[in-house]
Amino acid sequence: MNDIPLALPTLVGERTRLREWRPEDVGVVQEAAGDSLIPLVTTVPHTAGEAEALAFIGRQHDRLDSGAGYAFAIADGNDSAVGHIGLFFAGGARASVGYWIAPSHRRRGYALDALLTLTTWATGLENLDRVELYIEPGNQGSWRVAELAGYEREALLRAWKRIGGDPRDMYMYTRLTERALASSARS
Ligand SMILES: CC(C)(COP(=O)(O)OP(=O)(O)OC[C@H]1O[C@@H](n2cnc3c(N)ncnc32)[C@H](O)[C@@H]1OP(=O)(O)O)[C@@H](O)C(=O)NCCC(=O)NCCS
Repeated sequence: MNDIPLALPTLVGERTRLREWRPEDVGVVQEAAGDSLIPLVTTVPHTAGEAEALAFIGRQHDRLDSGAGYAFAIADGNDSAVGHIGLFFAGGARASVGYWIAPSHRRRGYALDALLTLTTWATGLENLDRVELYIEPGNQGSWRVAELAGYEREALLRAWKRIGGDPRDMYMYTRLTERALASSARS
């Protein structure tokens, strides 16, 4: 991943800006902590305490430093954070995406716009061939967002991940880069 930029870019979509997490975004993390799913499948804390939420924000800055990937706050037109999206390296030329939108900001197109924006950028990175999403079959909202963003359902991975202590199946959705698509079509 030598040519991957070492600084977090700001990515501009039609409805969202993907930018660095800031301490003043703490309220949206506290709101997400109260969601029934987000703390189970992400590192958002299970409690709405300010210190825990600030620690979450601090950890997002470590993702780049540790080489794990890129963690962005999804900001609306007023530059207020409404959610989170990250691109994490998964070995080889693969990366996976995770996202959430705080409950009070849903159904305004933010997740779709953020995913489109991140994917356009990620599929232009020289050393990536494939971007993946892992989504529970019952999470229709998330897989509809993925499909609207051009991701293809490639597989049902049985007992892929434990959530809340239980083995859960996951759909794997993928988007390939143009170069990878051309190569895949030839084989
Ligand atoms: C899934 C999630 C990210 C969607 O965020 P969002 O900003 O509300 O999604 P968008 O507004 O961009 O939705 C775009 C389209 O996707 C579909 N969609 C989104 N949420 C949906 C839902 N709950 N049910 C059915 N369709 C849904 C709709 O077609 C929607 O367009 P419409 O509102 O014009 O009908 C959000 O509900 C969330 O954070 N959920 C909890 C965490 C999570 O599931 N993260 C993903 C883990 S894989």
